[in-house]
Amino acid sequence: MISDSIISLGYIVAAVLFIIGLKMLSRQQTARTGNKISAFGMLLAVVATLLSQEMDYTYIILGLVVGGVIGVVAAVRVAMTSMPEMVALFNGFGGAASLLVAWSEYEKGRWAWLHDAPALVTVVGIFLAVLIGGVTFTGSLIAYGKLAEKLAGRPLLFPGQRTVNAVVMLAAIACGVMFMLSPASTHIVFLVLVGLSLVFGIVMAMPIGGADMPVVIALLNSCSGLAACAAGFVINNTVLVVAGSLVGASGLVLTSIMCKAMNRSLGNVLFGGFGVSAGKGAAVEGEVKPIDAESAYYILEAARSVVIVPGYGMAVAQAQHAVHQLAQLLEENGADVNFGIHPVAGRMPGHMNVLLAEANVPYEQLMEMDDANGQMDNTDVAIVIGANDVVNPAAREQEDSPIYGMPIINVDHANTVFVLKRSMASGFAGIDNPLFYKDNTRMLFGDAKASIEALISEFKQS
Ligand code: TAP
Repeated sequence: MISDSIISLGYIVAAVLFIIGLKMLSRQQTARTGNKISAFGMLLAVVATLLSQEMDYTYIILGLVVGGVIGVVAAVRVAMTSMPEMVALFNGFGGAASLLVAWSEYEKGRWAWLHDAPALVTVVGIFLAVLIGGVTFTGSLIAYGKLAEKLAGRPLLFPGQRTVNAVVMLAAIACGVMFMLSPASTHIVFLVLVGLSLVFGIVMAMPIGGADMPVVIALLNSCSGLAACAAGFVINNTVLVVAGSLVGASGLVLTSIMCKAMNRSLGNVLFGGFGVSAGKGAAVEGEVKPIDAESAYYILEAARSVVIVPGYGMAVAQAQHAVHQLAQLLEENGADVNFGIHPVAGRMPGHMNVLLAEANVPYEQLMEMDDANGQMDNTDVAIVIGANDVVNPAAREQEDSPIYGMPIINVDHANTVFVLKRSMASGFAGIDNPLFYKDNTRMLFGDAKASIEALISEFKQS
């Protein structure tokens, strides 16, 4: 067996690697390396834990093989557009793991606790790991179901919903208090606590609409970290406490960024039932003006400044490589080309950044929403590629719109706007978009990749 001081040193190095890796994740240039550094830290933590005490490795190897195979298959097979569902499932299983760790520690300790009371930190840790882990598990399953469209995406509301939720929550807390006051003799109460935690995850997530799911997933991600942190206190494992707190804190920061990007408060997301009574906003008036690739080319050919705004449709069409090629051709033609990235474009945080990085678009060309808006008045052409909600001026202009107040990229302030999409269908929020009817907007209908390739071939023929 390895000495305790070497194990502790391994944990400290692992914790430092987590922090360095996390810091590097905040910049696109360093994110890949940061991911590898954090993963190496986790490997170190796992090895140190396995060497820290005598144990039967049979089940660990079995779990490693089964979990490893599922992880590799999921990572290789999952489409980029289904990444949020996968994140939701992984959060959920993280929560379930913390719940099971706490539950097994409880079952292991409860007979001994009849004579020898456990430390307060242990019982509080068990309570929190069960409560937060259980809520994270079932809440994430519901989030997965809604995102994967296996459950209806609309908020599921019924009269007295909030009262039911409050009663379930209060009952879980009451069971937790009873358990903590008398941990050795409250077996049934403990099992009820497990059940109520699982039920609360369901009743909490069901009333939340699909459009708010990204925020909920970020929040559940944070919860999975907090549950792991609590489980770390239960089994007295420092590195689990550190890793759990980092996940908990970064998940909360992400939740707050996303709430700001959608101009919603967290309370409004969790209890607002977004999309239930909201209509599609005021009827849109005006005329849609389609354009073909050849005519669009003539306008682009003369453009000196172009801002490309990608959205979910670029991910669906897998058009990122073609988009990069078009950007290069525009630059060769003398235009200044930048990309305007909305924080909730696509279906997961950083979705557009990941796709554009995969296509080797230089990081310097990626502008955040505020910077893109700052230069929109001086932009000759804004090319909207499969984006809809994140460029919808109703968010700015129509007080009755369900997305009113959400910050958008003001592409309509550019001289000309090309919108590349297949039809007049709405985006994720299910509402009409007045942008498509504006005087300076031209609709280039078709699959985004096919349309971009048509523009590329126009440039090449010239
Ligand atoms: P959306 O508003 O969802 O619009 C995407 C548009 O892409 C659709 O209108 C669709 O129109 C078009 N499209 C789909 N496939 C296409 C293809 N092959 N070629 C060309 N166009 C295609 O996307 P957005 O502007 O990126 O906004 C994101 C929305 O998702 C926001 O409401 C946001 O709140 C929500 N959301 C965001 C996240 C995160 S964290 N990013 C997660 C979940 C939800 P056609 O069908 O007519 O082609």
